[in-house]
Amino acid sequence: MAKLRVVHRCSECGATHAKWTGQCNVCQSWNTLVEDVEGPGLSGVALPIGAAAVPISDVSIATTSPTPTGMGELDRVLGDGVVPGSVTLLGGEPGIGKSTLLLQLLASWPGRTLYVSAEESAQQVRLRAERLGALSPELWLLAETAMPHIVSAIEEVRPSLVVVDSIQTVAEPELGSAPGSVVQVRGCAARLVHEAKTRGLPVVMVGHVTKDGSLAGPRTLEHIVDVVLSFEGDRHHSLRLLRAVKNRYGPTTELGLFEMVGEGLVGVPDASRLFLTDRRAGVAGSAVLPTLQGHRPLLVEVQALTAATTTGAPPRRSAQGIDQGRLALLLAVLDRRAHVTTSTTEVYASAVGGVRLAEPGADLALCLAIVSAITGRPLPADLVVFGEVGLAGEIRQVPHAQRRLSEAARLGFTRAIVPANSPNGVELITLARVSTVSEALSAAGVAGP
Ligand code: TYD
Ligand code: MG
Repeated sequence: MAKLRVVHRCSECGATHAKWTGQCNVCQSWNTLVEDVEGPGLSGVALPIGAAAVPISDVSIATTSPTPTGMGELDRVLGDGVVPGSVTLLGGEPGIGKSTLLLQLLASWPGRTLYVSAEESAQQVRLRAERLGALSPELWLLAETAMPHIVSAIEEVRPSLVVVDSIQTVAEPELGSAPGSVVQVRGCAARLVHEAKTRGLPVVMVGHVTKDGSLAGPRTLEHIVDVVLSFEGDRHHSLRLLRAVKNRYGPTTELGLFEMVGEGLVGVPDASRLFLTDRRAGVAGSAVLPTLQGHRPLLVEVQALTAATTTGAPPRRSAQGIDQGRLALLLAVLDRRAHVTTSTTEVYASAVGGVRLAEPGADLALCLAIVSAITGRPLPADLVVFGEVGLAGEIRQVPHAQRRLSEAARLGFTRAIVPANSPNGVELITLARVSTVSEALSAAGVAGP
């Protein structure tokens, strides 16, 4: 394989230089040269050179069909399984459970696998595998940090899936700089991409990301890998969320849910029930939203807390799992269209359980939670609500109304506030159809007489 080489790249114009200088001699910018690496695999695609054009229907897709991993929640996020020759980056904070997830993946994989541990000793990994019930005879283990040895092991073991844990702790000696530096992280990843593409071997690498997502290493890899997965959750709670940030082979809308227990990670098939376990009915500032995360309907509690500002400063707004801009917009709509004034009110809003509500269908639930918090009137305990709120205060339809309602009915809810033009409802749920925010506030009993 062609060699990797360290270069100095201008962060202004992208020109590369063999030596570091204070000024880029291409664009004349000062102090813009940073160390980088060049070589095969870094372009992000490993496509043949000199290929001929063919009719699209003649293109063979046999080699790209995914292999199911044996872990349902992981397959859901990947979109059916792992594609041959694909490179996946699994990012997440230290201690969130990345190594655990991947050991379990390797143990349930149908074929020989290689786990490269560059952080923990072989003994530590074995002990953990024992605890996880992952002592599969087809799982091979290499505790090693040097890339040339890792590549030789791949050559020798001939696995059908490789995990490198982590990309920040492996190193290519010929690149010189320290493990974890941008040069090393990009260089080692490029080498792994090359191995994956030339052998048709799927490779998964772990990348640690700190809470603010600041670690430069893994972020710079996102364009050279095929799939970027993010493993999230609160370390002090057992729920873990897996989502695809990028996926060349499938959707990025699916959410995988796991619970960390004594025997490792177990998939959570009934997510709605889990999300509502800690909910206290009869408390003001809470609304239940039937949302969709990819294909999965999910009941999520939306909470709001409001307080009068005591200083003259503009009131604070904070949103967790909800877009900050959307919150501001909805507050403006409430003010102008429903006469709910929040100009001197601090508003804290959140989606419970670490879920991110990116869909506009969450608007109405958020509005009702906010007004309920302000008036101190709780929403009925058996009520769910969904709908998009327009700038004129009108309530707009959202997709998959029936699937949302079915999920709500399954969990025992009996009432729903829905957009006026929604299709027919489902059995066991009484619908209140609303066409404006004001109507919704009255229907929920949080405002008006
Ligand atoms: P780990 O997979 O080592 O995290 P990462 O590789 O992302 O750094 O997981 C570490 C945490 O998971 C650790 O705090 C203990 C917990 N854990 C369990 O609760 N149960 C288990 O079966 C295992 C293996 C770990
Ligand atoms: Mg680990």
